[in-house]
Amino acid sequence: MTALLTEYSDFDRHTFGPDFVWGTATAAYQIEGAVDRDGRTPSVWDTFSRQKGKIKTGETADVACEFYDRYESDLRLHKELGFDAFRFSLSWSRILPDGVGPKLGGRLNEAGLAFYNRLIDHCLALGMTPWITLYHWDLPQALENKGGWPNRNIVDWFAEFADICTKAFGHKVKHWIILNEPLAFSVLGYFTGQHAPGRRSFRNLLPVIHHTALAQAEGGRIVRQNVPDAQVGTTFSCSPIDPFTASTRDGAAAARVDALMNRLFIEPALGLGYPTKELPFLAGIAKKVAKPGDMERLAFDFDFVGLQHYFRAVVEHSYFMPYLWASQVSPLRRNVSTITEMGWEVYPESMYRIIQQFSQYEGVRKIHITESGAAFYDTVQNGAVNDTARLEYHQNYLYQILRAKRDGLPVTGYFAWTFLDNFEWAEGYRPRFGLVYVDFRTQQRTVKASGRWFQQLLTNQHRLADVNQS
Ligand code: GAL
Repeated sequence: MTALLTEYSDFDRHTFGPDFVWGTATAAYQIEGAVDRDGRTPSVWDTFSRQKGKIKTGETADVACEFYDRYESDLRLHKELGFDAFRFSLSWSRILPDGVGPKLGGRLNEAGLAFYNRLIDHCLALGMTPWITLYHWDLPQALENKGGWPNRNIVDWFAEFADICTKAFGHKVKHWIILNEPLAFSVLGYFTGQHAPGRRSFRNLLPVIHHTALAQAEGGRIVRQNVPDAQVGTTFSCSPIDPFTASTRDGAAAARVDALMNRLFIEPALGLGYPTKELPFLAGIAKKVAKPGDMERLAFDFDFVGLQHYFRAVVEHSYFMPYLWASQVSPLRRNVSTITEMGWEVYPESMYRIIQQFSQYEGVRKIHITESGAAFYDTVQNGAVNDTARLEYHQNYLYQILRAKRDGLPVTGYFAWTFLDNFEWAEGYRPRFGLVYVDFRTQQRTVKASGRWFQQLLTNQHRLADVNQS
């Protein structure tokens, strides 16, 4: 193992305590493939990825990791790596091909429910806990055609979907995540247009934010009502924000970016409202978008929050970015050499800082790191992938989680992003985040050194079994 392991000689799964949850995180559209099988209809990502120039590599997730057909052997491998929790999302249009279900005049696709039942049952049979994400960005195209997230009816559409899923799986699944990174799909999907559905308008931004925040709380209430013994959480993308210089202007820019990137969706859930002091344009929500009673409906007492953390951000004042008046100072400009294939800075201490920042909210009682990981260029040589940089990323970020735990912060789980190399949204298949390498021509799986390190950490085996699979 690397020098780091020796340095962290006290580092094994027991150090994190018996209740600490070890898992990986995945998302339906990124791994399932089978996009037109058994009654599934297109999602916004199917449409978007078919449009020219939207995906850097021109690829789609039509096939992806073929997880739809390979889930049994894949979950076996996941278990062999020692993980006790598997996080996956439900493809909304696989379950409700019209986007809405019978209550709102649409069809329920039994074949879609059957797939997730098989997947859940298989997880349970292997002794792994299923963690369901209700929404990981793949809105049914049928609902986008009716206006998508800018249409207030989305709150009812999502509520019906949540109701159907919790009634179908709630007797077996006790860990529920409402939304995956609301900031990403709302802002990238409807304001900057980099993600599906690729719409770009400021007019949509406030309605999208508000309907998303309402759906977040509404989803929480539905899970709690239908699965009273569930742990209910939701996830947030988050990064500590540092000002580039000590100037007052950069300091204020950092505060605005912090409000956007870290506070926008958690604070309404905690009953604190939107961060309008730093971002005055958000006041337009209460004035123009919200209906009476909405501000109270935004609050929900989640059992845990899921933090998804990858990098810190350094920002400076900028006249070029309207409303935010701030821009990121890239790692390259700061002469930072430890960057990933995504261009993100590797900065382990930011994990400690972000846990510390979110722990300060009175309403945050429990934190799980529901995603963290790194994309680096990988090659298979003699049947092995020696991904030292990714391995060190996980070691170093985990070490910061351990520090946080030792300082009494309530962090109780780590879900590595991700199990298998997969379709990385607008980037296509090029950035590889997996602990398991996927050859997308043959679908062969090869456990990377990082995956083997997790296996050793989690199973305490001295001699590792050969778990490579095809
Ligand atoms: C997250 C997202 C994942 C994955 C990851 C790596 O924002 O939830 O689906 O793509 O980033 O970029």
